[in-house]
Amino acid sequence: MSRKRFPPTLELQIEALDADGVGVAQFGEKRVRVKGALPDEQLIARTVGKRKGAALAVAETITDNASPLRQTPPCEFFPRCGGCALQHMEYAAQLAHKQAGLLQDLAFNNVGYTQLRPAVGSPQFGYRRKARLGVRRLYDMQLVGFREAFGGRIVKMDNCLALAPPFDRLFAPLAELIGKLSIPAAIPQIETAAGDTDIALVVRHLEPLAVADVRLLGEFEQQHRIWVYTQSGGYDTLQPLSSHAPLLNYSLSEFGLNLEFSVTDFVQVNAYINAALVRAVNTALQPRPGKRIGDLFCGIGNFSLPLARSGAQVTGWEAASAAIDRARLNATRNGLAGRTRFEVADLYNLPGDKKQKLPIADVTNLDALVLDPPRSGAGPALSSWLDPGVSDVAYVSCNPATFASDAAVLLKHGFTLDEVGIYDMFPHTAHVETLGIFRRHG
Ligand SMILES: C[S@@+](CC[C@H](N)C(=O)[O-])C[C@H]1O[C@@H](n2cnc3c(N)ncnc32)[C@H](O)[C@@H]1O
Repeated sequence: MSRKRFPPTLELQIEALDADGVGVAQFGEKRVRVKGALPDEQLIARTVGKRKGAALAVAETITDNASPLRQTPPCEFFPRCGGCALQHMEYAAQLAHKQAGLLQDLAFNNVGYTQLRPAVGSPQFGYRRKARLGVRRLYDMQLVGFREAFGGRIVKMDNCLALAPPFDRLFAPLAELIGKLSIPAAIPQIETAAGDTDIALVVRHLEPLAVADVRLLGEFEQQHRIWVYTQSGGYDTLQPLSSHAPLLNYSLSEFGLNLEFSVTDFVQVNAYINAALVRAVNTALQPRPGKRIGDLFCGIGNFSLPLARSGAQVTGWEAASAAIDRARLNATRNGLAGRTRFEVADLYNLPGDKKQKLPIADVTNLDALVLDPPRSGAGPALSSWLDPGVSDVAYVSCNPATFASDAAVLLKHGFTLDEVGIYDMFPHTAHVETLGIFRRHG
């Protein structure tokens, strides 16, 4: 069906919320996905496009059966902005929705569990310490913001409740800055990163910056006390404007740790939830002298160093060599170099695979593992990490679907899923972070 055949407004009955936090409904033979809708509601929705045969729409007027879970979205740019999906749902209901989605994925993979941990909630605003903002010139208007929910356009916005200060209110000054540069149309994006003591932004540019542009960026850096980086190509072209720009850092104060990171390193976006995850992983794995723990997908040492602090011997593996360099430095800065080893490896390499670009990880002689893979999950390599000596696995996941299919593999290897639950890393979005603790007894 062509887009034209969907009327501009549709009267719908919402059946459910999908994994993206979008309501689904039926219009004749066709599926409709409705942003800003909640299950059972009857409403009028405005169609905004079509994808994979389903109409895309935005809730306009609730005509009947308004959900008791509905709230007034705290952000004025919802539902247009693609940054959030669930602002129209009370926060407790968001947590319940995410936990229910996780249980569905576990059930789909026939994964049973012993204890469902209550969902761990987060401060709802100002939590997001990293973001990528789109930049676009529209006639004489300079836009800096998130992309629209159902399209590629940049939302005209002057604040964001999710971003950590000062970026939450920096949209207008950033747009003004870009508008003054000689090449505004050649700036496709800005990345923001907030550490505990310093903050930074990266201006991506597709054409060379003029001397006057560099001066303007320098003035912005001084005025807003934000370390500005420029990037003309891949991450290897990243340049700090100031030669004394420090690395960013965050503390894990319960463990007496401070970790440094660069604007381009992966860090868990929500400091509050990260601290809760690190605490839970430590409680579950009971690190102590003599215990050997592997941290797979270790990044800059976020889980490794707290485990080593309690006396365990920790080996971290990770594909990004810059992150491994940083993990080693973080270990040294925190007096933990003697208890940690960090190695570059492609963890998806299977033994015998001849096309390996990075070394293979030697995941043997370990008592416990932390797994924190990207969205694709652990995948086929998982079985090769499960030496008979491994009795505990703490699995941190950003995708409940791959978590559940990996959990089924762990169960086949004799583990039980002792504890599982969600940690709300991204309030108001549909993103689901999960922690599962697997144990193999006897
Ligand atoms: C979700 S992050 C976790 C990072 C770290 N555990 C933390 O808490 O900050 C996933 C990490 O996996 C790494 N990664 C992605 N693909 C990989 C691969 N094939 N082999 C090893 N590491 C990989 C990424 O560079 C990233 O640091």
